[in-house]
Amino acid sequence: MINRFTPLLSTAVALLFSAFAHAQQLESTRGDIPPARGVVAHNGMVVAQESRAARIGIEILDRGGNAVDAAVAVGFALAVTYPRAGNIGGGGFMVIHLAKEDRDIAIDYRETAPAAATPTMFLDAKGEPDATKSRDSGLAVGVPGTVAGLALAHRKYGSGKLSLADLIAPAIDLATKGITVEDDTADSLPRAQERLARWRSTSGILLKNGGQPLQEGDRLIQFDLADTLRAVAQNGPRGFYEGATAARIADAVVKAGGIMTKDDLKNYQALERPVVRGTYRGYDIVSMPPPSSGGVHLIEMLNILEQDDLYTLGHGEKTFHLMIEAMKRAYADRAVFMGDPDAVKIPVLGLTSKAHAASLRATIGDKATLAADIRPGKPADNEGKNTTHFSVIDRDGNAVSNTYTLNFSYGLGLIADGTGVLLNNELDDFTAKPGASNAFGLVGYTANLPGPNKRPLSSMTPTIVLKDGKPFLITGSPGGSRIITAVLQVIVNVIDFHMPVAEAVSWPRLHQQWQPEGVFVEPGFAPAVLDALAARGHAIVPTRPATAANSIEVLPKGDFSPQAYVGAADTRTRGALAAGF
Ligand code: DON
Repeated sequence: MINRFTPLLSTAVALLFSAFAHAQQLESTRGDIPPARGVVAHNGMVVAQESRAARIGIEILDRGGNAVDAAVAVGFALAVTYPRAGNIGGGGFMVIHLAKEDRDIAIDYRETAPAAATPTMFLDAKGEPDATKSRDSGLAVGVPGTVAGLALAHRKYGSGKLSLADLIAPAIDLATKGITVEDDTADSLPRAQERLARWRSTSGILLKNGGQPLQEGDRLIQFDLADTLRAVAQNGPRGFYEGATAARIADAVVKAGGIMTKDDLKNYQALERPVVRGTYRGYDIVSMPPPSSGGVHLIEMLNILEQDDLYTLGHGEKTFHLMIEAMKRAYADRAVFMGDPDAVKIPVLGLTSKAHAASLRATIGDKATLAADIRPGKPADNEGKNTTHFSVIDRDGNAVSNTYTLNFSYGLGLIADGTGVLLNNELDDFTAKPGASNAFGLVGYTANLPGPNKRPLSSMTPTIVLKDGKPFLITGSPGGSRIITAVLQVIVNVIDFHMPVAEAVSWPRLHQQWQPEGVFVEPGFAPAVLDALAARGHAIVPTRPATAANSIEVLPKGDFSPQAYVGAADTRTRGALAAGF
């Protein structure tokens, strides 16, 4: 049946668009990022980082499931087929648009700190941040939210035609029969080998005898994970948060130096929150509210950029300068104001207001503003790790934008013995101490200190852009601190520069996060553009791609063409797929 849905990989969106409308605006070349291709379909589209999981989503749509059902099935499937980031041992966020009710929903299934967490838990004896504690020990593990989040999404917003067990069945099947190691999993396992080899329970599954990583073409069989998934299929979330699975997870975390208890797992709740909303040039932006900083700062940056006519400025130095300056100001706000909304008061309306953006725009001149002139803080390191984003739309126009993560690639690297569940190291997203930065170089202050049952601040930005109340663009990305700016650039490329979605996704991206001072640029920017930015005072830092914005654009019905869904799988990692039918 899969063959029937083989995506129309060669169908270029360019045929539907005036491909050259924006050509004169483009000063850069794509460099060595292979171009994404737009896949066109009319009944449904799933774009995910791993192809087997994307196809499972399409099968669910074909069986009468809606976009939420498909997203839930993809979420469980990626836990098997994309272990570096797909997960049931981590957490994430789902933004849903329900077409019939014209309603937007945000599901927060972010991990929580255990009840025994304290604001000083990641400090060493001298009171300094200890990265080993927050990244490499059991203390780093947050109570996983994925199973609760996916189950909540299915129960409240699924079509009702398929049970949770129906949606988990394909994942159980793949875990039991095994999958061939390929694409990004084959690429990422060698890089993670050292972290994975620290745990015997992990080595037995993801490494071969002798501790070598599984290679392209090897078989990955996950019997324990299949059993855990079966327990969820039979008993719902209780199959994960109570009983043998919960006991094994708590035990593994404690043995690794952590403080998680069975009660922490039993008490975990996924939450619905009001989405965060903004507008940009006549489009509605619907995105994830705190504890993600993503939606708030995406809207803040768009509000700043809306005050200039970017198309006239051109897709080059002038626009990039404004973008970088907008990024700097938004990330400075992020450091100070953002945290768990259940623990700190966050001025969401103020930060996303047009007035705030106007006052920030007024401080942007022709030259780069130094980070220190925006707000005080310390420089920080910057690492790219992994997370994964998928976008789904069904024939009725219901849409799901989902980003979830283990934080680092393969999370802590620890599989809780007997469960097959790879555990996250999400609690590094807390601020260990005011002024300290996390693994992504993100500085924070008191608003994001660790605390009992708190959710660490995130940058994940699952977003749905609406036009006249209907989905127009579904997007999001992994990439740690770079997520928000990646989503920003996809949206600006589509709305301001009229790029077809595949081109908008492929285009090289830049990133600035207030601290450190540098502007991180992917390969492919024209040297003349970078020189011009440097002349304005921007410190240009070449960087490898670390984001992957798997997106869907909805092309409205035209005089001679029906409405179409165009999926664009980001090619920055191997194996992503836009599958449509
Ligand atoms: O929630 C966050 O913002 C981070 N834990 C996400 C980590 C991430 O995206 C790593 N991926 N490249």
